[in-house]
Amino acid sequence: MSGRPSGTSKSSLVEHGRGATCLQETCRDTIEQSKSCGQYPGPAVQQKGENIMTEHLNQKIGRRRFIGTAATAGLMIIKPELVRGTSANSAVRVGLLGCGGRGTTDATDLVNTGSARVVALADLFDDQLQASKKHFDELGQSKGHPGVDASQMFKGPKAYQQIAASKEVDAIVVATPPYFHPSHLEAAVAAGKHVYCEKPVAVDVHGAKQVIETGKKAEGKISLDVGFQIRNAPPFVELTQRIHGGALGKIACCQAYYYTSAIDRPAWLDASPVERRIRNWVYDRVLSGDILVEQNIHVVDVCNWVLQGHPLKATATGGRKVRIDSGDCWDHFEVLFTYPDDVHVSLNSTQFDKGWWDVCERFFGSKGVSEAHYDRPVRITGDDPWEWDAGGGQTQEKPGQFSTTGVFKGALDQADPEKKKAFAESILSGKFHNQAALGAESALSAMMGRRAAYTEREVTWEELLRSDEAWDARIDLDKLA
Ligand SMILES: NC(=O)c1ccc[n+]([C@@H]2O[C@H](COP(=O)([O-])OP(=O)(O)OC[C@H]3O[C@@H](n4cnc5c(N)ncnc54)[C@H](O)[C@@H]3O)[C@@H](O)[C@H]2O)c1
Repeated sequence: MSGRPSGTSKSSLVEHGRGATCLQETCRDTIEQSKSCGQYPGPAVQQKGENIMTEHLNQKIGRRRFIGTAATAGLMIIKPELVRGTSANSAVRVGLLGCGGRGTTDATDLVNTGSARVVALADLFDDQLQASKKHFDELGQSKGHPGVDASQMFKGPKAYQQIAASKEVDAIVVATPPYFHPSHLEAAVAAGKHVYCEKPVAVDVHGAKQVIETGKKAEGKISLDVGFQIRNAPPFVELTQRIHGGALGKIACCQAYYYTSAIDRPAWLDASPVERRIRNWVYDRVLSGDILVEQNIHVVDVCNWVLQGHPLKATATGGRKVRIDSGDCWDHFEVLFTYPDDVHVSLNSTQFDKGWWDVCERFFGSKGVSEAHYDRPVRITGDDPWEWDAGGGQTQEKPGQFSTTGVFKGALDQADPEKKKAFAESILSGKFHNQAALGAESALSAMMGRRAAYTEREVTWEELLRSDEAWDARIDLDKLA
């Protein structure tokens, strides 16, 4: 079995030969093999492409009422009494796929909305599963929910298919390493489950196109959210509304940056090389997408949100200079994106800083300047000044402490709770979200910057999509079992 099974649709996936065989075979078509034992995600071959992003990519909300939709889709997703809101015991039954740091946060947030409980867990590794069961059993107990039943614990390479097939589950949180997201998302949607899929939705162009196709199948039938929680952070929402309302006048350019510390993970010295790669996927270019696509994507997503579209081209550089102890990811990127109307966005990032971090976007317009930090301030200076009133909000307890699970203090305090509340409500109301194309658009934008940096030349959106770049981790998960 391959590490990333092929899709089931007649999309370009099939045309390009990513069958359900060992990816080692297909990599001959897609990865430049000469670089460092195939781990280097080299330039993809040029494939016949299509401009898939010309259609409207804003968040679409399914308008059909829940019961009607569930009936036409042949799904029994939530108990009817839950829809009417009359049963105190009803809740969205959540399955967590990928029981690590972020998945635990996501599923806990969902439970804390009061509208969900965790009923199933899936992971490659037993230790992750058991730790997660302990956490969610304790959480469930504190809320008066039963613990996770032994029959709903799924382990190993097929765990993602088993949790998707579970009749006990209404919604799946996909929080596995990014490389697996397209196939894990596809399996969940094919099984009729609502999905909260962590960012990035894919590590390569091929995967992003797969996610777009999966999104089309989900439309109107289930709710599909992508983990860009900043879009739900009240200070960022108000700032963006003000910018869209003209508070900055004509926007010329933006300075965006994501400066943070190295991500600290256990070394897993006793694990096999393959297991170590998966345990520490965040250091691995193919499994993570590299820091630009895996982490800095939050900033790219905010730029796309504010500028209401995606960049048209990018030039970039970067490298691997300081954080060289593990894996093969770069530790800094410098990207210059050009958006429609010739708006320029310079994005700088580092992932090795000591004692300090900051993440921010500053937009410069004819009427003023906006700046939005993860912590604070979030404000506009100029003709129409405004500043988010932090009120009783706390700043980071220890300066330089950065959250790898996405839990922040400050301007993002409410981001996760609001995001999860909106996801749960979309399921309960039947006003389904479909953020697949939007998630793919931000992933592709970051990939364009990454490709420009790796190749050290300008890359356009059309070229990126034509490339159909597909990365191969060359991992046979069955050998881990
Ligand atoms: N939105 C945010 O702010 C935010 C913050 C942190 C992480 N994330 C994203 O969340 C995802 C997970 O990150 P994390 O930090 O929790 O990683 P993690 O390593 O802590 O957790 C990943 C889990 O997936 C499991 N896993 C790996 N391969 C698997 C497979 N093929 N099938 C089933 N399980 C598998 C691992 O054993 C592990 O338990 C990533 O996409 C990351 O980018 C988002």
